[in-house]
Amino acid sequence: MKNFSDMAYDLFMLPLETFLLNRRRKSIFRDVAGNVLEIGAGTGTNLKYYQYDKLKSLTITDQDLSPALLNHKYPEDLNIKTIEADAENLPFETASMDSVVFTLVFCSVTDPYAGLNEIRRVLKPGGRIFFIEHVLPLNNPMRRVFHKANHQWKKMAGGCNLSRETDKIIEESGFKIEKLERFFGAFITGVASIS
Ligand SMILES: C[S@@+](CC[C@H](N)C(=O)[O-])C[C@H]1O[C@@H](n2cnc3c(N)ncnc32)[C@H](O)[C@@H]1O
Repeated sequence: MKNFSDMAYDLFMLPLETFLLNRRRKSIFRDVAGNVLEIGAGTGTNLKYYQYDKLKSLTITDQDLSPALLNHKYPEDLNIKTIEADAENLPFETASMDSVVFTLVFCSVTDPYAGLNEIRRVLKPGGRIFFIEHVLPLNNPMRRVFHKANHQWKKMAGGCNLSRETDKIIEESGFKIEKLERFFGAFITGVASIS
């Protein structure tokens, strides 16, 4: 059961989910398999997209676990853990995960390089990340608008950073981008592996 703030967030996101995000979520989850870690799972929007029969285990994390994640009816025969954890300090063994998923999270991770280093550490060799993020637009008028709005937006939206270039940060953190789609000017979705 979702609480009021989860429902308010989901309602706020509904137009974006309907017109932009939901088919991209479906698309990344086609290849998510094995021992899976989700970072910053929020209100549990991704839970309906997992192909549970492809998973060996699912570890759901957020820095602040919502009741929706704790109370969700997960498949009974799957090893599921819900754990409060910061992306920058993951309480998991090195080389223990096959897939790591994060969607709309790295805009607000305080130290994205530390978060991605931790993800690299917990991934097995050949492991992959699957992501959707909003990023700084490429074209100039929009970049300026995003930079200008960033200070106020961060205060209103719990630290969400409009100026972040998470695609660059992923590459600078030693991942090899396998697939990348930029959409609606300010969003990216893709898959990357440990290079
Ligand atoms: C905008 S919500 C996105 C939720 C969900 N992934 C989705 O796609 O709708 C961002 C989530 O990231 C979590 N988060 C932010 N910084 C984090 C960090 N450093 N470590 C773990 N989770 C974090 C927040 O608590 C929040 O639940």
